[in-house]
Amino acid sequence: MDVFDKCSVNLGPLGQYADQAEGYFMFPKLEGDISNKMIFRGKERLIWSLNNYLGLANHPEVRKADTEGAAEYGMAYPMGARMMSGQTNYHEQLERELAAFVKRESAYLLNYGYQGMVSVINSIVDRRDVIVYDSEAHACIIDGMRLHFGKRFVYPHNNIENLETQLKRAQRLTEISGGGILVITEGVYGMSGDLGKLKEIVALKSKFNFRLLVDDAHGFGTMGATGAGTDEHFGVQKEVDLYFGTFAKSMAGIGAFIAGDHHVIKYLMYNMRSQIFAKSLPMPMVIGALKRLDLIRTQPELREKLWTIVNALQQGLKKAGLNLGDTESPVTPVMLNGTVGEATQITYDLRENYNIFCSIVTYPVVPKGVILLRLIPTSVHTLEDVEYTIKAFKEVKEKLENHAYSKEMASIDNV
Ligand SMILES: Cc1ncc(COP(=O)(O)O)c(C=O)c1O
Repeated sequence: MDVFDKCSVNLGPLGQYADQAEGYFMFPKLEGDISNKMIFRGKERLIWSLNNYLGLANHPEVRKADTEGAAEYGMAYPMGARMMSGQTNYHEQLERELAAFVKRESAYLLNYGYQGMVSVINSIVDRRDVIVYDSEAHACIIDGMRLHFGKRFVYPHNNIENLETQLKRAQRLTEISGGGILVITEGVYGMSGDLGKLKEIVALKSKFNFRLLVDDAHGFGTMGATGAGTDEHFGVQKEVDLYFGTFAKSMAGIGAFIAGDHHVIKYLMYNMRSQIFAKSLPMPMVIGALKRLDLIRTQPELREKLWTIVNALQQGLKKAGLNLGDTESPVTPVMLNGTVGEATQITYDLRENYNIFCSIVTYPVVPKGVILLRLIPTSVHTLEDVEYTIKAFKEVKEKLENHAYSKEMASIDNV
């Protein structure tokens, strides 16, 4: 048997649809300036699928900082890992500014959120420790835990009663092992838009001895009075021991960071394999991130505009009878009932007839019979975009209920 044999037999759970879906549902190409309208397959569409929450992707000051950073330093500098030869004043400045912004003692940069999170988890726990985590944790949390030699217990999404049960189990184990407990949740759940129950989780600290790690990929820059995240929103920044944010969403960049008490961040600096054994973030990314952070701090109107669009979209969709689940963040999931075939038809209809481009999620990511259309409002959307979209979704819902989509599946070749 050749390890490559499987590659021509089955491309896996997502790849199995590659023939029909590639280029349209998966790996679609969005062209033109990143904004509310972009080109998909040669035609302008209204885009609701980019995490460009604050519109920073094409903010003139961001573009200028990125350009100047690249002109001055190129993409190569600094060479090597931070620990070896990749340290700069700018990297340290960004870390100081991030730490101050999220009200922590220290922060450390991560090259990518995904890898960084894997490495944070891997380095902060040892075989005596127990991890307790939410069942809807992002793939990077799951992968981080795969490297953990100790026990891990899952609690059903946001089920605090069950979390308490898992903490009791964890406590019994750590009393024997001599280890500690790490609880991991997200601030904003990126598919459903609901928030991790941070208040209820930190309240359990009065009963159990544990540390809390929050992945706030979608909350950083969007949630809280100053945009410092979901823990700011809930007023629990002091109780969240490790705060993780990425630059890939509201910052419209790349890279990430972890923030917490000085001695813990120092420990991570010397133990996170994703950073010790990988090249430092290139200077233009760091200079660009400093500018983005500056705009988040100094231009609250970007966040205000985002929330104007979020509120108009979510209230309008709800008023039109659409089910948005429990979202409390900008992430706007529209839940419909139908088959995967109907989901395909709806997507064609939205893209080709309404010129609306959003992400679509079906079984097995969501339960059988559920179609999740995910809209990401941003500060570059307009109230006209919102109005148009609400009307379109209302029509789509009606067509679905009248079985208009249950006919033969359309093919991409026909559009
Ligand atoms: C909850 C969550 N954590 C981590 C990540 C990974 O971040 P990055 O894109 O910076 O690797 C993502 C991005 O999709 C995310 O949604």
